[in-house]
Amino acid sequence: MKTLNVGMIGYGFMGRAHSNAFRRVNNFFPLDHKVVLKAACGRDGAKTQAFADTWGYESVETDWKRLIERADIDVIDIAAPNNVHAEIALAAAKAGKMILCEKPLAMNSPEALKMVKAVEKAKVPNMVWYNYRRIPAVTFAKQMIDEGKLGRVFHYRAKFLQDWTISADVPQGGPGTWRLDVAIAGSGVTGDLLAHCIDTALWLNGGIQSVTATTETFVKQRKHASTGKMTKVGIDDASLFLARFRNGSLATFEATRYARGHKALYTFEINGEHGSIFWDLHDLHRLQWFDHRDSGTLRGWRSIHVTDGDHPYMGKWWVPGLQIGYEHSFVHQVADFIEGIESGKPAAPTFRDGLATDYVTDAVLASARTGRWVNVKSA
Ligand SMILES: NC(=O)c1ccc[n+]([C@@H]2O[C@H](COP(=O)([O-])OP(=O)(O)OC[C@H]3O[C@@H](n4cnc5c(N)ncnc54)[C@H](O)[C@@H]3O)[C@@H](O)[C@H]2O)c1
Repeated sequence: MKTLNVGMIGYGFMGRAHSNAFRRVNNFFPLDHKVVLKAACGRDGAKTQAFADTWGYESVETDWKRLIERADIDVIDIAAPNNVHAEIALAAAKAGKMILCEKPLAMNSPEALKMVKAVEKAKVPNMVWYNYRRIPAVTFAKQMIDEGKLGRVFHYRAKFLQDWTISADVPQGGPGTWRLDVAIAGSGVTGDLLAHCIDTALWLNGGIQSVTATTETFVKQRKHASTGKMTKVGIDDASLFLARFRNGSLATFEATRYARGHKALYTFEINGEHGSIFWDLHDLHRLQWFDHRDSGTLRGWRSIHVTDGDHPYMGKWWVPGLQIGYEHSFVHQVADFIEGIESGKPAAPTFRDGLATDYVTDAVLASARTGRWVNVKSA
């Protein structure tokens, strides 16, 4: 069996989610590569060592440049905040490493374009961790759409709601709250939450032609964790946009961190000529499906429990009827990435797909600034 030596950068939320996926993938998916957790990298040596011990990494680095120089690392996994994605990815591509990068791909689309050019020039396998594509019910929705079950699509409706920044006492910057610091995050909910909704939408419903958006920053000043001073907030707290897809369908997208009672409510609904699909992250193993072609008296919404052996990925897990969860989407992503290397057919979303999402988020932010419809570039 060949080995795939992973060098992980970041030991936070995603560092843990990815490490769990790397550890489990060979137990459930038949692959020609065995994943080896070779090195964990973080700036704090003691914390990085503790993370390495917990997850079984063989070694520790405190400088990502040193990690990239190592000849025994095959794939660099970027699970650090958005402001370091580009610098690390450009160096990793130059060193000929495969790269897995967290979303959003970059702080903005010009930076993302440089990353795309670098990985394509170096011809290194690359992927962005838009993991929601690989929740079996979402993958199953993609199959249904591709089979034509919905027919012509008229509407796409997505939202991602949270409520954790409503208090004006939440600081900006620093561990845990870097998402509120525009210098580290690039944008607010547009790049953080809407990016997920957009990636899923581009995958399920094709390209977006144009958008018109509005954003709001409800808390204008917050204490900065690094200086202790009240500082202007540069991120968008809420972001809403209308979109026209290239296939002629119309869409609404909404994301906020000010929807009291919601922690991570990601939902989408698609309305087509023959039927509709609805999915909800809080009930992630179910796909709601309405088929107008059913006989009139039996017509109604069906709740499909996506746990059968015939459903995407599910044959690799337990027995029909037993559901899996959030963390499995990352295991699926690693499995598909490795299968892509082995088959020579790269798994999506690649960096170029990640750029497509960044083109939409940039257009959303530009429209919110100008109040006009903005055309979206093609990646
Ligand atoms: N796919 C998803 O669903 C999902 C979910 C959450 C976060 N993310 C993305 O993952 C990335 C990380 O987010 P998180 O929630 O894990 O953040 P986090 O704050 O939990 O962890 C970030 C980690 O990066 C480390 N770090 C910061 N700067 C670094 C540097 N210069 N060198 C090395 N390490 C550095 C921090 O010490 C920490 O260990 C972000 O890009 C975020 O948008 C994606």
